[in-house]
Amino acid sequence: MCYIFDSLLKNGILHKGDKIALMVPVFTPYIEIPELDTYEFDVVQVQASSFAEAGVREWRYPTEEVAKLADPAVKLVCLVNPSNPPSLALSQRVADQIKSIVATDNPGLIIVTDDVYGTFVNHFRSIAADLPRNTLLVYSYSKHYGCTGHRLGVIGLHRDNVIDDALAALPQADKDRLAKRYGSLSLDPGSIRFIDRLVADSRQVALNHTAGLSLPQQAQLTLFSLFAMLPEGKAYKAKVQAVVKQRLDLLLEGSGMKISDDPQRAGYYVELDLLAEAERTSGPGFAAFLQQNYEPTEPLFRLAEQTGVVLLNGGGFDGPQWSVRVSLANLDDLDYLKIGHHLKTIFDDYRAEWQAAGSR
Ligand SMILES: Cc1ncc(COP(=O)(O)O)c(C=O)c1O
Repeated sequence: MCYIFDSLLKNGILHKGDKIALMVPVFTPYIEIPELDTYEFDVVQVQASSFAEAGVREWRYPTEEVAKLADPAVKLVCLVNPSNPPSLALSQRVADQIKSIVATDNPGLIIVTDDVYGTFVNHFRSIAADLPRNTLLVYSYSKHYGCTGHRLGVIGLHRDNVIDDALAALPQADKDRLAKRYGSLSLDPGSIRFIDRLVADSRQVALNHTAGLSLPQQAQLTLFSLFAMLPEGKAYKAKVQAVVKQRLDLLLEGSGMKISDDPQRAGYYVELDLLAEAERTSGPGFAAFLQQNYEPTEPLFRLAEQTGVVLLNGGGFDGPQWSVRVSLANLDDLDYLKIGHHLKTIFDDYRAEWQAAGSR
């Protein structure tokens, strides 16, 4: 992620203050990097604001939200697919809408898709398969193999792509500047592709000969990739999918909460909207009482104080303030049943406080 933003800027594809879009809620660094003084991007949010039914969020992107990408001033869009925190794979409806936007209104749109949770959905299809010319594909081995912290990731870009087209169309002054920047690498620096520039930039160009080289990491990437192709690797994939699914079921059993029925759920996380749940179980009066009397993070502090369980607030992912994210990848299965029970108790306490106040 860091390398992509950096190289797009260094190569004059993006400029400080440019308009970019984020499909939210999203993994926090995608929110925080564009705010840095190096970039100060003007961010348009495409919000997963749909509801499946009253009180149950669907966490999918309505057509009018996706339509924001049709503005040609939007130069790049970042999405996480399957999403984090809602943990749902992009629907073909949205992929088709983005395809038609690229075919008509915004052909130069650069799509950064972070598919780190792709293996948690069967028959997963990246938007890179639909829009190969426009897409930078980011993947990390971190989730599927539980190896967070090892820095094992890849970036993919199709040989024929809009970024190399944009490099070829740069004004001569930019081309001259970049020929100087990459001049130590080739007698024809103008012909260096974006993906190779990105590798060089990752080591300040000068150390290009060492860029991307790390034998332990590369050996581990190779072993993981080969394992994924074996029958054992396929069985492992089914097993980890089943583990998170079982934990999600236990969490819902304990909490009594309802989530949308979605065949494209990765279930690595779940994002629960407490306000929507309050409305679903006891009506809008209860939801209004919570909003008027408590900070959105209050339930999280109650939970942490009473049980030592720490969840993350969805507002930090630019999701609804009253939503919370539960990671289903960290604890033992039965802990999720307990977390569910704790959430239910906290909800019952709030309901009792509302009833004591007259249930208005
Ligand atoms: C969307 C997304 N991308 C990347 C990562 C992290 O990957 P890595 O461990 O390789 O830095 C995360 C982890 O939370 C994530 O949610």
